Amino acid sequence: MKKVLVLFSHPKFEKSRANTALVDHIKDMEGVTFHDLYERYPDFHINVSAEKKLLSQHDIIIWHHPFYWYSCPPLMKQWIDMVLEFGWAYGPNGDALQSKTCLNVITTGGSREVYCSEGSNSYTIRQFLRPFEQTANLCGMNYLPPFAVMETHKLSDDDLIKHANKYGALITLLKDNLSNIDCNGFSFINDIPKLNTT
Ligand SMILES: Cc1cc2nc3c(=O)[nH]c(=O)nc-3n(C[C@H](O)[C@H](O)[C@H](O)COP(=O)(O)O)c2cc1C
Repeated sequence: MKKVLVLFSHPKFEKSRANTALVDHIKDMEGVTFHDLYERYPDFHINVSAEKKLLSQHDIIIWHHPFYWYSCPPLMKQWIDMVLEFGWAYGPNGDALQSKTCLNVITTGGSREVYCSEGSNSYTIRQFLRPFEQTANLCGMNYLPPFAVMETHKLSDDDLIKHANKYGALITLLKDNLSNIDCNGFSFINDIPKLNTT
């Protein structure tokens, strides 16, 4: 069974509705390490060697965060800047993350419809997430399409439970080796047939 590291970044988790539902559902799953960065590093002083050790102990790396200004909250970026060091994560002998799997799990205020060339946000979610995708690529990781829970303010409690269940099902698939499953052609991993059987 593969091991999953959920790197979670939410500056206002105490006020969160969508991410609370998602996190509550997956944080105690077997084989999952839930790592709340704002709780661990409120001063932004990241323990780089501890983070590298955590990464080396897991196969699947999830960047889980609300979408803030078309990107991630600042501590997530700080984590990327500090932890993914030259000569370790990339560059000469920088092969520590080779062949791991990586994806973003995000929640957004905007709907799917506004994230396209004709929509008010002009670009797709995949386009906004390109820096994450290329970071994963540079580190030799296999980057999967994002799991996205969108238009969160319009979601009922029941809707959120459905999304949380799907997130749990995704993690179970990842643990069982989702790399066997073809995600090509899907903008969102939410849409792959294996997660939509009922
Ligand atoms: C500072 C800030 C920036 C945001 N930027 C975006 C954005 O760029 N695109 C978007 O769709 N939603 C944006 N939102 C909405 C959040 O993504 C949304 O409220 C959040 O994902 C809901 O999850 P929560 O209930 O766990 O907080 C932003 C919200 C805040 C507070």
